[in-house]
Amino acid sequence: MNSKTLEKSVYILAIESSCDETSAAVLHNNKVLANFIATQKIHETFGGVVPELASRAHQQNIVPVVDTALIEAGLKLNDINVVAYTNGPGLLGSLLVGNAFAKGISISKGIPLIEVNHMHAHIQSHFIEFNADGSKNSIPELPFVCLTVSGGHTQLVYVYDFDGFELIGETIDDAAGEAFDKVAKILGLPYPGGPQVDILAEQGNPNAFNFPKGKVEQFNFSFSGFKTAFLYKYKSILKEIDAGNKSLVADLCASARKTIVETLIEKLFFAAKYKNVNTIALAGGVSANKLLRKEIFETGEKLGFKVFIPRFEYCTDNAAMIGISAYYKFLKSSFSDLYSIPKTKWSF
Ligand code: KG4
Ligand code: ZN
Repeated sequence: MNSKTLEKSVYILAIESSCDETSAAVLHNNKVLANFIATQKIHETFGGVVPELASRAHQQNIVPVVDTALIEAGLKLNDINVVAYTNGPGLLGSLLVGNAFAKGISISKGIPLIEVNHMHAHIQSHFIEFNADGSKNSIPELPFVCLTVSGGHTQLVYVYDFDGFELIGETIDDAAGEAFDKVAKILGLPYPGGPQVDILAEQGNPNAFNFPKGKVEQFNFSFSGFKTAFLYKYKSILKEIDAGNKSLVADLCASARKTIVETLIEKLFFAAKYKNVNTIALAGGVSANKLLRKEIFETGEKLGFKVFIPRFEYCTDNAAMIGISAYYKFLKSSFSDLYSIPKTKWSF
């Protein structure tokens, strides 16, 4: 191990490449100095992430993205003490790019490696204390229950330490983000569809259509039944939509959004009560959803919970969250080695 790691103060270069964002961040302990994110546009053409194209785009992006993060942080590669990378879960080819690049830096600079679990990192984005613009975030008190809602995952996690997690529930089929994206795809909206559905829903009637909520035991979720019901409802009113009844599309979006959000909210508060916590948190890209944010704050306040949602740049895929996760591993000297293999699935 390099002697630099013995210092308490650490400069971390973090790399995220698990899906379709190539991101690099630089942290000084729990302060973000730079968090640069390149979102791959190529997938819009195909209406979803194409794995082979994603890994090729990561290869093209990784050097300029890391350079930009270092410049924004005002540092040189020689100033970095530790290099961290997302090692799963994610797309194999995409993960390999970050994994290999981080190993290259580790060898050439003689600095240690830290592999990071992407889903842990989404939660740990709550522990970023200082931002690149100098502002400070309030950190949730432990323990708390976190709902992580992204394009690939929907999880309820009991967080009892900065790096202590217990998975208490997750989706048994599709993720909430996938459900939003599917609604958008059926309606012919561009990818990623979640934000588009959210915008259209603002103009629609949330009670126009009734969609089923997945009935799954305890703290798990299911969205496959909802997706099928949505498709059949859409087909049954397609003639009216084609005839130019635009308000029907907004009504479909509003009703779908209400169903997905209510499902998430019910389970989140159910889990929070079960775990007897005072604090709840949200993480992942779907945290941007207007109704979800409103409901979680309103219901939380009514029921006496403290509610935390990270800054938007830390909700969607980003390397700052990989950096903060690595910081807590650094404190425990939990390093990885050159033999680490990307884990497309990486359970808690
Ligand atoms: O966490 P994230 O950026 O990437 C993954 O790790 O998957 O989450 C992306 C997901 C996509 O499914 C996208 O449609 C959804 O987050 N999303 C939204 C909104 N903004 C992003 N879903 C609903 N409403 C939004 N405003
Ligand atoms: Zn993610």
